[in-house]
Amino acid sequence: MRADLALIGFGNVARRFARVLAEKKDPLENQYDLNVRIVAIATGQHGHAFHSDGLDAVRLAQHVEHGGALEAMQAPGQRTPVSNLDCIELLAASSAPLKVVVETTTLNIRDGRPAIDHVEGAISAGCHVVTANKGPAAFAYRRLDGKARSKGVAFLFEGAVMDGVPIFNLVRETMPAVTVEAFRGVVNTTTNYIISMLESGEEFEPALAFMQQQGVAEADASLDIDGWDAAAKAAALANVLLAADVTPHDVKREGIGPATREAARAALRAGRRLRLVASGRRHATPQVSLQELAAVDLLAGVSGTANALVLQTDLLGEVAVTQLGGDLTQTAYALLSDLVAIRRRLPVLLPTPADRTP
Ligand SMILES: NC(=O)c1ccc[n+]([C@@H]2O[C@H](COP(=O)([O-])OP(=O)(O)OC[C@H]3O[C@@H](n4cnc5c(N)ncnc54)[C@H](OP(=O)(O)O)[C@@H]3O)[C@@H](O)[C@H]2O)c1
Repeated sequence: MRADLALIGFGNVARRFARVLAEKKDPLENQYDLNVRIVAIATGQHGHAFHSDGLDAVRLAQHVEHGGALEAMQAPGQRTPVSNLDCIELLAASSAPLKVVVETTTLNIRDGRPAIDHVEGAISAGCHVVTANKGPAAFAYRRLDGKARSKGVAFLFEGAVMDGVPIFNLVRETMPAVTVEAFRGVVNTTTNYIISMLESGEEFEPALAFMQQQGVAEADASLDIDGWDAAAKAAALANVLLAADVTPHDVKREGIGPATREAARAALRAGRRLRLVASGRRHATPQVSLQELAAVDLLAGVSGTANALVLQTDLLGEVAVTQLGGDLTQTAYALLSDLVAIRRRLPVLLPTPADRTP
């Protein structure tokens, strides 16, 4: 089955996604009956591109990485899109049976826009949406999910929390009839790495600088250290898993700073661990708070670039998911896993193992 994609945002995550699609071309075709083409790409500063037969996205990724603009690579005879929504409309006009908008623009913590507009535009045009941006699920989950359901398309966002490690798909696809009562987790890599370094006697600024150098910290590092990224994740988790209707601005929020060093060292001396914990419970305000945890607490053992989330459920007790370090590949994989989740939902059956070419 042909799947045509429009990438809205072509930064680190989307470029890695384009390469992962190329690397996984054969299993996608043979096991999931997915012949994926990227037909449109939109960026903020690097222009737009379209080809009705599919773009060479890996070559375009190299071109953008060398500072080039997408328009310079536009094939003759193909219409150059003039806006993000134009890219979505060009995708919607494709004859492919599966049309998916992949949204990976930068998180806007003020109101989640323009990512929400891109998701809404895609749904209105009858396209499925996958996104790694926290904004849509954190600011407008109910509305977007309702709209997607009424249009019969998918709105998936596995990459919004803990990269490609399944959280939303885990609950949705593998925990039928389970009610999630609460969650608590260490979900921001930058702050957890910094706290771990502070525990071992390092200073705040070099630890932050290292995370920025690694490309892990958000472009605006205050999003991480002031707790906004964790608040956006807490809002998304609360909206999706706890049936809340909150935004990151409703989350009770705490961040970290140079003064956290003494608190982290004091906790360690007392045999405890300081962690920035995102938590939520049904009918209660989600929060992001610095907590001194007993050494036996699973979250106390989550150090460095590791993340973990504990779900408290009615039928399965506590379920913990741990990610021992993540990078762009995991986030790109989240988009891929959402794409396959959409394909699995379609009434046209997947090939059986016997049909698969080795
Ligand atoms: N990096 C990670 O490990 C990670 C992990 C989980 C989730 N995420 C989320 O995934 C998303 C992408 O992250 P990233 O690291 O790829 O960010 P990035 O490298 O900064 O790329 C952002 C992309 O969005 C484009 N963009 C920004 N504003 C736009 C607009 N108004 N219209 C069209 N395009 C626009 C940028 O274009 P220009 O460059 O031309 O301005 C760029 O191509 C973010 O929401 C982030 O929070 C990232």
